[in-house]
Amino acid sequence: MKEFNDVEKVIDETVQGAATMIAQEEGKNQNGKKLYLESYGCQMNFSDSEIVASILSENGFTTTRDSSSADVILMNTCSIRENAEQRVRNKLSQYQKRKKEKPSLVIGILGCMAERLKKDLLEQEKLVDLVAGPDAYRDLPKLIQEVESGQKAVNVLLSREETYADISPVRLGKGGIAAFISIMRGCDNMCSFCVVPFTRGRERSRDPKSIVQEAQELFDQGYREVTLLGQNVDSYKWNITKKGEIIDPSEPVVNFAQLMEMVAQVNPLLRIRFSTSHPKDMTDDVLHTMAKYENLCKYIHLPVQSGNTDVLKRMNRGYSREWYMNRIEAIKRIMPDCAISTDIIAGFCGETEEEHQDTLSLMKEVGYEFAYMFYYSERPKTLAERKFEDDIPLETKKRRLTEIQAVQAELSHAANSKMLGEKCTILVEGTSKRSDDEVFGRNSQNVVVIVPKNNLKPGDYADVIITDCTTATLRGELIQTEEA
Ligand code: 5AD
Ligand code: SF4
Repeated sequence: MKEFNDVEKVIDETVQGAATMIAQEEGKNQNGKKLYLESYGCQMNFSDSEIVASILSENGFTTTRDSSSADVILMNTCSIRENAEQRVRNKLSQYQKRKKEKPSLVIGILGCMAERLKKDLLEQEKLVDLVAGPDAYRDLPKLIQEVESGQKAVNVLLSREETYADISPVRLGKGGIAAFISIMRGCDNMCSFCVVPFTRGRERSRDPKSIVQEAQELFDQGYREVTLLGQNVDSYKWNITKKGEIIDPSEPVVNFAQLMEMVAQVNPLLRIRFSTSHPKDMTDDVLHTMAKYENLCKYIHLPVQSGNTDVLKRMNRGYSREWYMNRIEAIKRIMPDCAISTDIIAGFCGETEEEHQDTLSLMKEVGYEFAYMFYYSERPKTLAERKFEDDIPLETKKRRLTEIQAVQAELSHAANSKMLGEKCTILVEGTSKRSDDEVFGRNSQNVVVIVPKNNLKPGDYADVIITDCTTATLRGELIQTEEA
């Protein structure tokens, strides 16, 4: 679940595990304590941090951007690859040094690492005072109190119901134009390389009414873009069990295509994105709904992981190369202007040179606009760790990754070059980093375009024509503007 381009490198870096400090300045009924919240990993973690900030501000905490003035430091963490965890450990060690000078400092870990390592982080690694898994955030005020009274505090219970649907997130992102809405939690897929089903628990969907209400409130506050988040949004289901039994006959059943339609109808000026789609579950219905509404952005992140059917089988992805290509053909047929991005893993267990070549050929066949590319990192307790040997030498993994990245660089460049002379509508997000006389925004396909400022301000839509393209950036000229 991620995006690309200039502005989005911020998010891209966070996917790689870099830290972003987030803060909320005001709290209700303040208790005088300052919270410093640091988030690593995917968009879902950033969305969760907004829920954590909301729960703690309701309990009197104010948040700070300055970790040295904090009374409580919480790190919301990612376990997806080993190096993501290592970065968090290094940071926690630094905070432990600070605790020597300020013994009352509470250091806590949230998110996937908390869930995966549980008490080890307290007892063996001695890096934190508090451990809270992704479904335990309502318990944080109590857990912090426990630490303050001299105990160590842990809650790593996973829930089958928790969706935090009633909690109104404190928006921590910059800009006030684009926000995340979490529509479901957990994952039931059990891809063999992936730790997420163990750290985030069973899949559950959130009440569509609360999702639509959140989108409406965001629009009323001036937001113009929402990203609907889930590990596998295509399996969103409300009021129906996995076996197909209706739960409450007096209520409608809602699937992802229907949910998208409900959110699209909030307002035509509210753009909707979503992440992440799963090739095995993405229906033509979803694509037809996207095609029907202009405000459903023409951009799909469809992780393939590998271009070889045998590798996909070992990965337990639930589709073949042919199935995946059929989904790509459906996207291109139903929405010829839709951009497609992907995730790829190089050097999965047993991957031969031929299988690796299949990944390269699939990439070219699809012509991805963008890709997130990784080499395989074995994760404890996953199916792959139990069943297969992590037998591809690190140098081979890295070499294959470099080859994959080189193919993608060509594809991304070709995609950008094709935009020269094209017209598109961008949603202005802010002032360009390089010049106050320019603003940037994204088009429906999620490509960042820089244009002269004119009178444009964040939240405006602008029709532009693309006049220049470098590898990473597109520039355009204004055709006409509309007030948002
Ligand atoms: N090693 C490398 N990459 C991984 N991903 C998930 N688990 C692993 C792993 N063990 C990648 C997948 C997924 C993305 C979020 O991270 O490509 O789609
Ligand atoms: Fe992990 Fe697969 Fe679930 Fe994505 S769909 S979170 S890769 S198990």
